[in-house]
Amino acid sequence: MTIERLPESSSEAIISVRGLTKRFGTFTAVNDVSFDVYPGEVVGYLGPNGSGKTTTIRMLCGLLHPSAGTAKVVGRDIVHEAEFIKRQIGYMSQKFALYDDLTVMENLRFYSGVYEVPREVEQQRLQDVLHMAGLENHTGAFTRDLSGGWRQRLALGCALLHQPRLLFLDEPTSGVDPVARREFWDLIYQLAHRGTTIFVTTHYMDEAEHCGRVGFMRNGTLMAFDAPRALKSRFLHGAAWSIDATPLLEAVDQLSKLQGIAQARLHGDRAQVIVASGENNTVEWTPQTLASNLRASNIAVNSIEPAEPTLEDVFTLLAHE
Ligand SMILES: Nc1ncnc2c1ncn2[C@@H]1O[C@H](COP(=O)(O)OP(=O)(O)OP(=O)(O)O)[C@@H](O)[C@H]1O
Ligand SMILES: [Mg+2]
Repeated sequence: MTIERLPESSSEAIISVRGLTKRFGTFTAVNDVSFDVYPGEVVGYLGPNGSGKTTTIRMLCGLLHPSAGTAKVVGRDIVHEAEFIKRQIGYMSQKFALYDDLTVMENLRFYSGVYEVPREVEQQRLQDVLHMAGLENHTGAFTRDLSGGWRQRLALGCALLHQPRLLFLDEPTSGVDPVARREFWDLIYQLAHRGTTIFVTTHYMDEAEHCGRVGFMRNGTLMAFDAPRALKSRFLHGAAWSIDATPLLEAVDQLSKLQGIAQARLHGDRAQVIVASGENNTVEWTPQTLASNLRASNIAVNSIEPAEPTLEDVFTLLAHE
């Protein structure tokens, strides 16, 4: 299932960021970032290690003061109204602190205290969260005994006890197996379906494909922020070709050196090339010219077919632009 809820221009942004910047000494971790997120969106935030994703989230959660720029979260200023914001949002940090010596239920009760869940609704909230996260049969389990996938579900449950309308998830599925990742995303969709806005960082492209919009950070700069389909058509104007050739590695190597080829890479047992777009391209590559170029280097070409560009292609291009 793909959630494609694009911003409605009439609704007010739940996150509004203008020129947000964070410097650590002379190093700029987040550089002049601006974007808006609208209620009910599922926004993915991507970028290589150290590109500034967590630093951005920590500022938006009111945990870190910006060096410059402004941001409003749930309509409030992140510097002057951080305490209000913290009560309205959920934050599952990259290293969310679960207490290993406590059981699942004890961890939930602990966070229920941290988030000041009123006593009269606490029992119901705990039940709701256990049900939502599918943890009902694990309440007595020690947290240290949970698998990675279950730990992340528990962390998500803890971050939801105060029923936030906006949820920041920082790499919630890192190190989790594919089936558990899928199940975790089902939970994310459930939350989104109920109206919770989700801002999630990930290194997984399949997860990014399932976000309504995706932001891509590089060296502290927000390079792009749009729907996956729009990103593909904006950055991949050129054609993409999937090539069956032998020897394959030599083919990829040769293709990557060609002028007018934006990217050549291995894709399963084939080579995939993206032809550079408009102004960067002086050579008109077609299947015929690609094949004759390879054959001239004694590389056998068995077939060339049109390929579907992926978000991974977009991000590889952006990361090296
Ligand atoms: N408190 C700090 N003091 C100094 N430098 C910091 C601090 N926090 C983060 N940085 C630096 O800022 C840069 C951005 O870090 P950040 O954690 O935001 O990256 P990230 O995109 O979340 O990376 P990852 O994918 O590895 O989680 C990194 O170079 C990091 O070393
Ligand atoms: Mg991070």
